[in-house]
Amino acid sequence: MPQAFDVTSSRRQFPALALKDGGAPRIYFDNPAGTQVPQQVIDRTVECLATKNANLGGYFSTTVQAGELVDQAHQACADFYNAASASEIVFGQNMTSLTFHMSRCLGRKFRKGDEIVLSRMDHDANIAPWLLLADDLGLVVRWMDFDTGTYEFPDDALSKVLSEKTKLVALGMASNCTGTVNDAKHFATQARAAGALVYLDAVQLAPHYAIDVQDLGADIVVSSAYKWFGPHQGILWGREDLLKETFGYKVRPASEELPHKFETGTLSHEGMAGTLGAIEYLEQFGTGETRAKRIASAWTTMAEYEQKLTLKLIEGLRTFKGLTVRGVTSANAMHRRVPTVSFTLEGHQPVNLAKDFAKDNIFVWSGHNYAVEPVGRMGLLDKGGVLRIGLAHYNTEAEVDALLSSLTRQIKNA
Ligand SMILES: Cc1ncc(COP(=O)(O)O)c(C=O)c1O
Repeated sequence: MPQAFDVTSSRRQFPALALKDGGAPRIYFDNPAGTQVPQQVIDRTVECLATKNANLGGYFSTTVQAGELVDQAHQACADFYNAASASEIVFGQNMTSLTFHMSRCLGRKFRKGDEIVLSRMDHDANIAPWLLLADDLGLVVRWMDFDTGTYEFPDDALSKVLSEKTKLVALGMASNCTGTVNDAKHFATQARAAGALVYLDAVQLAPHYAIDVQDLGADIVVSSAYKWFGPHQGILWGREDLLKETFGYKVRPASEELPHKFETGTLSHEGMAGTLGAIEYLEQFGTGETRAKRIASAWTTMAEYEQKLTLKLIEGLRTFKGLTVRGVTSANAMHRRVPTVSFTLEGHQPVNLAKDFAKDNIFVWSGHNYAVEPVGRMGLLDKGGVLRIGLAHYNTEAEVDALLSSLTRQIKNA
């Protein structure tokens, strides 16, 4: 039985959550674009810069301590993804840069006429690198399409486009627009059975649900720590045998060993330290004898809280005439979405709503938010996209009420 999530104890650990602007508290609903960080992240980052700031591989105290920190950060991320080994963890600048890099490395295996499958639900970071690779190599691109009525992929979305020529399936685990959680394991199983590699974008799933790469059956999973309460830092997991056999673009003196083969140049040790801090923050909300188990249990606890908050938000939004929530809304399906809720409102441009929310110190995003494919597929690209409210576990019912009151005021004054 998971313990109940204590939002007050969580909020106390985030200095930014106590800040006000002109006397007004800040309401952070911009979480899908980046979350705030707890003190543990700040402390780890400062400690790294203040006491162990050196390059790796030497004999003096700072280089040795920096090396230990880097190892600890790899292990923490292995636990975060429930990976079998820390050597499967590759740090990089962000998800986008890692995907450009890895697409080039994997692309060495592909030939003209090979097929790749992309998803209409995805953020452009898991589309553009593959489209450009297809352009470079003469690959054929097939698309997995979602149902614009349910905002979910039908079960046969992949089997319709999969063939013996498919070399790779690139799919998001959760949408940064509709909030839909995709059945990644189902699609990964189909893709691997057809002999294709599976590249999963976990950026929007990772801040809300546990990821177990040993259960998923994918080949590569990528996320970014700044979306889950850490610093700006990308983290890729890759199946060890695949990483070993894959060509790594690197400078000649750099190690051929994993994960260094894919970690080009000098990494952000302070970013890795902060990432370690974020994982230490998260595990305090869980129970279990290993860190991987504590992290998984923490997500279960936080997800239960988030799902109730999401339902309150969705039910509140749906009372407004002319408002359409662009995602799953059923009360019993909150586990099939993350708490990222996008909507359109007849007669109101999303950008103007975002500006008005900002006047009440409520932070939201509008437009396509780089979800060009899904927003285009919903026919909203030339209509200003959507207004996106992104909750995290540190948000409260009072904040949701404040947003709904702000929207009521905006509509009245329009
Ligand atoms: C689903 C998804 N994938 C990828 C990215 C890109 O991540 P990064 O900023 O780490 O490159 C984002 C950023 O918002 C995202 O929401």
